[in-house]
Amino acid sequence: MTGSDAFVFFGATGDLAYKQIFPALYQLVRRDGIDLPIVAVAVDDWTVDQLVARARASIAEHETIDEDVFGRLAGLLAYVAGDYTDDETFTKLRTTLGDAQAPLHYLAIPPSLFATVAEGLDRSGCAKNARVICEKPFGHDADSARKLNETLHEVFPESRIFRIDHYLGKEPVQNVLFFRFGNTFLEPVWNRNYVASIQITMAENFGVADRGAFYDAVGATRDVVQNHMLQLLAILTMEPPSSENPEARRDAKTALLKSIRPISVNETVRGQYDGYGDEPGVATGSARETFTAVRLMIDNWRWADVPIVIRAGKYLPRTVTEVVAQFKQPPQVVFADHDIGGRNYLRFRVNPDQEIAIGARSKVPGEAMVGQSVELKVESHHIDAKPPYERLLGDALAGDQSLFARQDAVEAAWRIVDPILDDTVPVRTYPRGSWGPPESDGLVRDLGGWLDPAPTTEENP
Ligand code: BG6
Repeated sequence: MTGSDAFVFFGATGDLAYKQIFPALYQLVRRDGIDLPIVAVAVDDWTVDQLVARARASIAEHETIDEDVFGRLAGLLAYVAGDYTDDETFTKLRTTLGDAQAPLHYLAIPPSLFATVAEGLDRSGCAKNARVICEKPFGHDADSARKLNETLHEVFPESRIFRIDHYLGKEPVQNVLFFRFGNTFLEPVWNRNYVASIQITMAENFGVADRGAFYDAVGATRDVVQNHMLQLLAILTMEPPSSENPEARRDAKTALLKSIRPISVNETVRGQYDGYGDEPGVATGSARETFTAVRLMIDNWRWADVPIVIRAGKYLPRTVTEVVAQFKQPPQVVFADHDIGGRNYLRFRVNPDQEIAIGARSKVPGEAMVGQSVELKVESHHIDAKPPYERLLGDALAGDQSLFARQDAVEAAWRIVDPILDDTVPVRTYPRGSWGPPESDGLVRDLGGWLDPAPTTEENP
């Protein structure tokens, strides 16, 4: 596994580059000392100076700029303007790459352009020995994802394709994996015999902001459920990998995703926050969902019949992603507080801070055998680790695919959500700042209701 010798990013003037790529590159220069040509490509007729100004503005939003580091980054930047359908753009790119023989190309562009760019890279010789990073969503449904894989494979072998899902680069998500397989006490109870249900909530207290046009073509199911939520669920519920080889982890994840039953429209609720239709870039009368709640089943020995619910939405009361696995009740009444629901649980908070907590009942001091709910916090802190994009770009430059989604996993995840895409389920409006349409309560009535995550340490330090 040798490192790439140049970094190219398409969509350089876009939102993703601004929000994620420039800050990640800056940190890679600062922390890892990367020193390779960085070529930005976009259709806009910009100069390098404009690009450098854009990079500065982007980085300044995150931190105070260290001029020495920024100067080194600026010195690496080049800009190629051009239409992706024009071979001339790729010829210019090849010339700009100079002596580089093994570039890493990041497609920070809509998936509808992946094939065009891959073909342009191929014809110009820019794909030779190259790796490619594809942004999510990878495809639009199961069929288009399969076709996209076929097209990309005509240019890049699977070992050179890096499908990004930044949730996999999140430190607390890595910790879910570690906690599960670094401890023995969980394994005997981590199955259908002891776990009553699993809930995942991905809540954001903001709307589509300036991403209306992108979001309106996608919606919550494609934006975060098909990828982030299902990847997280797979890490939570997969079998132990057969070895420490990263490929074994990807095998275990794919096997789990393949055993999830496609979601039924009867177990899906779609919502749209009030005023979504007035957001810039959103089509008038759009029925795109900004909230999705689903109930699903994993058809395997470990999880058969354990209800799993996932909800994800924008303009919910707070920004937090949390998993709660609730355990079954004790088998026999010994104390008066037998009917207390949700007594034992394991909770992982993976965004924006990190928490692992275990819920239990203990006795209130005194003569009566009266119980109280207690929570044992295994971890609870702000995240002090490389942000996901920095970590993932560094891994991709080094050729390490461990934290990227493999073709079979991506296709398996699309198969799960395929039946509920687009208008298969009516969309219901919900007030901003609520937990989505009340209809979603129907999915969890028999599970004791949704468990709304408590304020985070950021909100409530
Ligand atoms: C992105 C989605 O993949 O993840 C966004 O496109 C979402 O809509 C974002 O806001 C959430 O990720 P994070 O890490 O910022 O919580």
